[in-house]
Amino acid sequence: MCFYINHLKTRKVCLCTHFQVEKERGLCMAKSKNVHVCQECGYESPKWMGQCPACRKWNSFVEELQVKTKNTASISEKTAPMKINNIKITEEDKIKTGIEELDRVLGGGIVLGSLTLVGGDPGIGKSTLVLQMCETIGQKGYEVIYISGEESAIQLKMRADRLNVTTENLSILIETSLENIEAVVKNKSPNVVIIDSIQTIFSEQVSSAPGSVSQVREATSILMRIAKRLGVSIFIVGHVTKEGAIAGPRVLEHMVDTVLYFEGDRHATYRILRGVKNRYGSTNEIGVFEMKDKGLVQVKNPSELMLTGRPQKAAGSVVTCSIEGTRPMLIEVQALVCQTSFGMPRRTATGTDYNRVVLLMAVLEKKVGMELATYDSYVNIAGGIKINEPSLDLGIICAIASSFKNIPINFKTVVFGEVGLTGEIRAVSMAEQRLLEAVKMGFEICIMPKANMKGIKKIEGIKIIGVETVSEALSNVFY
Ligand code: TYD
Ligand code: MG
Repeated sequence: MCFYINHLKTRKVCLCTHFQVEKERGLCMAKSKNVHVCQECGYESPKWMGQCPACRKWNSFVEELQVKTKNTASISEKTAPMKINNIKITEEDKIKTGIEELDRVLGGGIVLGSLTLVGGDPGIGKSTLVLQMCETIGQKGYEVIYISGEESAIQLKMRADRLNVTTENLSILIETSLENIEAVVKNKSPNVVIIDSIQTIFSEQVSSAPGSVSQVREATSILMRIAKRLGVSIFIVGHVTKEGAIAGPRVLEHMVDTVLYFEGDRHATYRILRGVKNRYGSTNEIGVFEMKDKGLVQVKNPSELMLTGRPQKAAGSVVTCSIEGTRPMLIEVQALVCQTSFGMPRRTATGTDYNRVVLLMAVLEKKVGMELATYDSYVNIAGGIKINEPSLDLGIICAIASSFKNIPINFKTVVFGEVGLTGEIRAVSMAEQRLLEAVKMGFEICIMPKANMKGIKKIEGIKIIGVETVSEALSNVFY
């Protein structure tokens, strides 16, 4: 930008260096309409940069044309403030989808006028999930429009037939222009609109390509306005980049009301729908589904699913109980510890935080005297689920110790507890729910933090052992 720009008005000659560069054009303006946008986080810079200063991602800048500021406020708006006490909430303000696992993640149902983002890897089942949801809410008499920019009407019909979608209230629209979508939504005023996917939608007001951060951001902000003003609940499906984030993730997550991620191992049949952000309910809730040949089927008892195929009498395997949102879930932690053949021991963690595993191994070395420095160690959460809850610590410790000593842990034992740096076992939340889940699944011994023992009544069928340190836990787990 030329700082002498004002001089031009009077002098007609500019002294700045830009003048030299732009001489041929007879201009003294280095101001460009183009802007470079980081495709990861949406950071804008007038110049191209190798690394984004905001998210530290390399090679993520793409040149985009700046958004033209055109006034789009065409819908009349009530601007008068309202008394909060005068606002009445009725049961109808939430549409129950009838799919319990989905309702729980949404915080009880679809809130009128909300904007929900459903993200996930390609082929994970996002379109299948939203189409099944269209069927159940359509059957309840709500008007739904499914707008697809990816698939043809025939493809959608084929999927609908496979999923047995028969509702009269579902309409399909193959459209990618946001202006046309806005017109259709205003004209038909449906209850729920699905946009599959946000990366294919473009606004004529933004000149960059569909899928770029500017387009995705502009489209989402316009959809948000439509949702709020017309009281339509909008679901947008978003693709995930190789790194596992929705394109322009930070930008989008701030804008929408609810963010749901659909995740799971491509090779396993079950899928997990995780609430990452929810303005209308608690986050970290999960819904578990299984992909069958006739679509997604709810899994009512995820613990059972996670424990299928568990080895009996195998060293390095232990069951722990994690809380996902409000629901306890039993999971198997596996560890394999073996002598390293190279100088540097190799450590990996699948499904949990690598640094946490390394830290817990350091606790085992220092506080229990287990010499792990010359051992490779691989930790895995069976079933492909990702858990980062601190209560998992004791499970990881026991699995590593079991594999190191080559002694199996009792098949009917469940352990949970947070481990501190001094080797103490700290209390965890919702200990009673965890215990009850273990009892329900037929476990007979539970090793848990002593600090959690106070409020817990005696439960029939399970022996509860309260422990204070890692050594105490390990002396009780092998016997
Ligand atoms: P889809 O919903 O198209 O994924 P996304 O929209 O997230 O890209 O799901 C596609 C996958 O799901 C595909 O691998 C096939 C599988 N699938 C089934 O196994 N059963 C079904 O009934 C359907 C519709 C899909
Ligand atoms: Mg799809």
